[in-house]
Amino acid sequence: MNKSVKPVVSKLLGSVLLAACGTGAMAQPQAGPSTTGVEFRNTITGEIMNLDEGKPGGRDTEAVKVFKQTGENKYLSDKSCLRNGENLYLTSCSGCHGHLAEGKVGPGLNDNYWTYPANTTDVGLFSTIWGGANGMMGPHNEDLNPDEALQVITWIRHLYTGPKQDAVWLNDEQKKAYKPYKEGEHFSKDEKGQCKPLE
Ligand code: HEC
Repeated sequence: MNKSVKPVVSKLLGSVLLAACGTGAMAQPQAGPSTTGVEFRNTITGEIMNLDEGKPGGRDTEAVKVFKQTGENKYLSDKSCLRNGENLYLTSCSGCHGHLAEGKVGPGLNDNYWTYPANTTDVGLFSTIWGGANGMMGPHNEDLNPDEALQVITWIRHLYTGPKQDAVWLNDEQKKAYKPYKEGEHFSKDEKGQCKPLE
C-alpha cells in the first residue's frame, strides 16, 4: 500500500508547498550556516565565526565553496595560487613572521612546532588568519577575503621545511610529491591554474 500512496502524498505535499511558499521559500531551510559543512571557530575563544563579515569578494569561487563544505584546500601546490599567495603573504604576514615564515616577532610557520595544533589543518590555519590569536596576531579578515586567505595558506604550506610525515595538511600522495620552496624560486604572472593574477 505504501508504494502507491507515497508518491501521491509527496507530490501533493510538493505542490501545496510550492503554491504556498514558492521555490525560494522552499529552499530556505537549506540556506544559511547549516549548509556549511565546516565550522570555523576562533582559535582563542572557540566562538563560531561568520565568514560573510570582513573584506568583500572571494566568497563564490569554487575553491572557497569546496573548502567550506569539506575543509579541503584545492589550491595546494597550484602555481598560479602560490604566486598570489606569496604576494599576499609578503604584504600581510612576513613583517611579523619573516620572509620565509622562519619567525620574527611572530612564531615560525615553516616548521612542525605549532602553538595551536589546530593550525596543522587548513581549517585551523584559516581560522587563525580570519579571527586572529593572541596579542599582535590580530584578525586578518579585513585585509584578506576568504579566497585570498586560502591563497596565503597555500603559500605558507609551500614554505614548510619540517619533516614530511608531520605535514598533516597533505594526503599521502601530496606528501610524496611535496617540494618545499627554494630560495630564488619564482612564479610568474603567466602561471596557469585556478587563481587569476591579483589586481
Ligand atoms: C603584527 C604582527 C603580526 C602579523 C602582521 C601577523 N602575525 Fe601571525 N602572529 C603574530 C604573533 C605575535 C603570534 C603569536 C600569537 C599567539 O601565540 O597567540 C602570531 C601567531 C600566528 C599563528 C599561530 C602559529 C602557531 O604556532 O600556532 C599563525 C598561523 C599566524 N600567526 C599566521 C599569520 C598570517 C597567515 C598572517 C598574515 C595574514 C599573520 N600571522 C600576520 C604576529 C603577527
